[in-house]
Amino acid sequence: MIKLSLRLQTIADLVSKEDNVIDVGCDHALLSIYITNKYQKKVYASDLREGAIKQAEKNIKKYNIEGIVLKQGNGLEIVSNKKINTVIIAGMGCQTIINILNNPKRKQLSKLLIQSNNDYYSLRKKICHLGYYIYEEKIIKDGHYYLIIDFRKGKKKYNYQDYYFGPILRKNKSRTYINYYKYLLNQKISIKHNIPNKYFLKRYKLSKEINRIKKEIN
Ligand SMILES: C[S@@+](CC[C@H](N)C(=O)[O-])C[C@H]1O[C@@H](n2cnc3c(N)ncnc32)[C@H](O)[C@@H]1O
Repeated sequence: MIKLSLRLQTIADLVSKEDNVIDVGCDHALLSIYITNKYQKKVYASDLREGAIKQAEKNIKKYNIEGIVLKQGNGLEIVSNKKINTVIIAGMGCQTIINILNNPKRKQLSKLLIQSNNDYYSLRKKICHLGYYIYEEKIIKDGHYYLIIDFRKGKKKYNYQDYYFGPILRKNKSRTYINYYKYLLNQKISIKHNIPNKYFLKRYKLSKEINRIKKEIN
C-alpha cells in the first residue's frame, strides 16, 4: 500500500470509517488514495489547478484505485453530494483555509481536519466562531513542525492561551510540543534582537509573545 509522509499519515489516522470525505486542495491525491483504499469507500478530491488534477489522475491510475471522485474547482464550491460530512484542508495558509470555509456548503460538514501552515491562533479562533470546537490536536515533526486540528460541530469556551497554544496540545504538553515552542521562542528572541529600538511597538509585541511562550513551557 501507498506510504504516506508522517504529516499525511497523521491526518489519515484522524479519518474514521463513517466519514464521507472531501480532500480540498488534494494536489497529488495521495491522501485520498490512501483513505479510499483503507476504507473501501468513495472519497471526493478537488483542486483549483489543472496541473494538480492531472497529477492526481496519474497517481490514481498508478495505484489502480477506484472510488475517487476528482473535481477541479475552488474550495467547497464543487461539493454537490449532501452526504459529504468531513473536509480535509491541508498544506495551506490560514486565510486561504478560512476563505474556503466561508461558504454556505460548510453547513453540511460536521468534521474539519485542518493542517494550516501558519497563524494557529487566528485559525482556531475563526473556525470556533464558525460553530466548531477542537476535538483533537496533533503536533508532529516531519522535517518541519506541523499542527493538525480536528474540529467538530458544536461549541466550547476557550481563552486566549487555548486559541494560541491549542487547548489539547497545552494540556498534554508532549515533548514535540515543548520542542516546537522552544524553537519558536529562540526564533522570536533573535528577531527581537535585530529590531532597532526605535520600532518600539514591534519590539513590545514580540516581548509579549516571548513572555507568553516562556510562561507556557516553563
Ligand atoms: C501545498 S498543496 C497541499 C496539498 C495537499 N493537501 C497536502 O497537504 O499535501 C496546496 C494545494 O491546494 C490547492 N488549493 C489552494 N487553494 C485552493 C482552493 N481555494 N480550492 C481548491 N484547491 C486549492 C493548490 O492548488 C495546491 O495544490
